[in-house]
Amino acid sequence: MVAMEQRRLEALARLRDPRSMSVIDGVGIARGWRCLEVGAGAGTLSRWLASRVGATGEVLSTDIDLRFHLPAEGAMEVRKHDLMNDPLSEGHYDLVHARAVLQHIPDREEALDRLRAAARPGGWVVVEDSDWSPVEHSELPEPMGTVTRLMTLGTATQRQWDPYFGRRLLREFETRGFVEMGLDGRVWAMSGGRDNCEWWVLAVEHSGPRFVEAGLLTPEQLEGAIAQAREPGFRMISPLSVAVWGRVPTE
Ligand SMILES: C[S@@+](CC[C@H](N)C(=O)[O-])C[C@H]1O[C@@H](n2cnc3c(N)ncnc32)[C@H](O)[C@@H]1O
Repeated sequence: MVAMEQRRLEALARLRDPRSMSVIDGVGIARGWRCLEVGAGAGTLSRWLASRVGATGEVLSTDIDLRFHLPAEGAMEVRKHDLMNDPLSEGHYDLVHARAVLQHIPDREEALDRLRAAARPGGWVVVEDSDWSPVEHSELPEPMGTVTRLMTLGTATQRQWDPYFGRRLLREFETRGFVEMGLDGRVWAMSGGRDNCEWWVLAVEHSGPRFVEAGLLTPEQLEGAIAQAREPGFRMISPLSVAVWGRVPTE
């Protein structure tokens, strides 16, 4: 299980780090910046942030579960930290970033308040989350289609997960008074056996047995979906991955 989660977080990082880097470069990350990476997962992006800010900068890389996090490098501190319960310096950071984290936190509005409070006046907050509408509204290959819908949209309420939070992000930023806001949204073809699909197959492999135990899936459906999505010819549309950025006003 641990190895599977490690592989999933690493696949996620390989898939999503390039867009995160391009957005963060776009807001002007520079030597000496103080950065906070929340829910860092594998920690690859934190290492990249540390390489950008140099020895005079600061990167605090946090996660509630550090088992999968790479060791610190350069001006980087790795800290076990629960965004919702543990304290953070307020008004301190030039950049606060959280990717694929808020959608999983039940009180995600308060989570965004906390990220905003950690940024200094004039500092940037960048949040990335998904919107599963493209998947919901597409014809997907079976049995992966059934398994995917069940594991995402069909169970969102019980799991206190918002599969549409990505599309709400811009409004959430607006209501908090951010300025210089922007948005980038991406979908891609998830192709059998590639990182762009494997992150999801590993999630299905990890969580699918619970759905079989609950009688919501047959073992054949689950095994069939996993095998299907590792075939080279398999394709399905991805969720929409949304990045929103904004700056805390200086007055
Ligand atoms: C889907 S993973 C994303 C990891 C990484 N940000 C990425 O995009 O590759 C969600 C991460 O959020 C972390 N997380 C969940 N709730 C958290 C909380 N309350 N405080 C800090 N981290 C949290 C999880 O442990 C996990 O590493």
